[in-house]
Amino acid sequence: NRQPMIAIDGPAGAGKSTVARKVAEVLGLFYLDTGAMYRALTWFILKSGVDLGDEPTVAELASQCQIDFVNTPSPSVFVNGEDVTQAIRTPEVTARVSAIAAQGAVRAVLVRQQQHYGQRGGIVIDGRDIGTHVFPDAEVKIFLTASIAERARRRQVDLKNLGQSDVTLGDLERAIAERDRQDSTRAISPLRKADDAIEIKSDNLTIEEVLGAIVTLYQAKT
Ligand code: C5P
Repeated sequence: NRQPMIAIDGPAGAGKSTVARKVAEVLGLFYLDTGAMYRALTWFILKSGVDLGDEPTVAELASQCQIDFVNTPSPSVFVNGEDVTQAIRTPEVTARVSAIAAQGAVRAVLVRQQQHYGQRGGIVIDGRDIGTHVFPDAEVKIFLTASIAERARRRQVDLKNLGQSDVTLGDLERAIAERDRQDSTRAISPLRKADDAIEIKSDNLTIEEVLGAIVTLYQAKT
């Protein structure tokens, strides 16, 4: 027996984590960023120096990678006790995470942790396969998208705010398109909209509008 939950899936840079975090705050739910888990494991594997294509060794490392989320004083991610909140957002990790996330043994380990984390419900979970695979019985399923141009534009604004103003829109569009391609063409749990998910295309919507729509859908289920 569990509380209702919200699954938010969609392509890279659609604003899932921003929206999911706010939805959780407004509704008093837990929040789980599954992309951060794949990123944390990718960071751990890059640090270890093993060949990313060596699946048995990567699987072994996955079982040694303890990922923890801490919310105070600010939302942070830890790997085996080390704060990796910033380190998992570098272009190096971003460019390689899809290759790690395509491996069956990696997904088996992380999906089991996600299902355990969400077993009581009362949670917002974002990722690529939450509504299709991790929690196919989620009460509210959202597929959040935006055009590649809009996603690249938003990412450029985020990067500028972090002091990185040297990245072109073209480079961002290519990186986003490549990650979408890898995530939606992989054999295991590829990115796709669940049949019963509600698609929200956010190009012309504010964060508050997307937030309001999801909160209303959840309240209708409780
Ligand atoms: O959401 P974010 O962009 O941080 O996710 C990073 C990567 O992790 C994705 O590009 C995808 O390869 C992988 N991922 C996944 N399944 C999830 C969440 C993320 O394969 N549920």
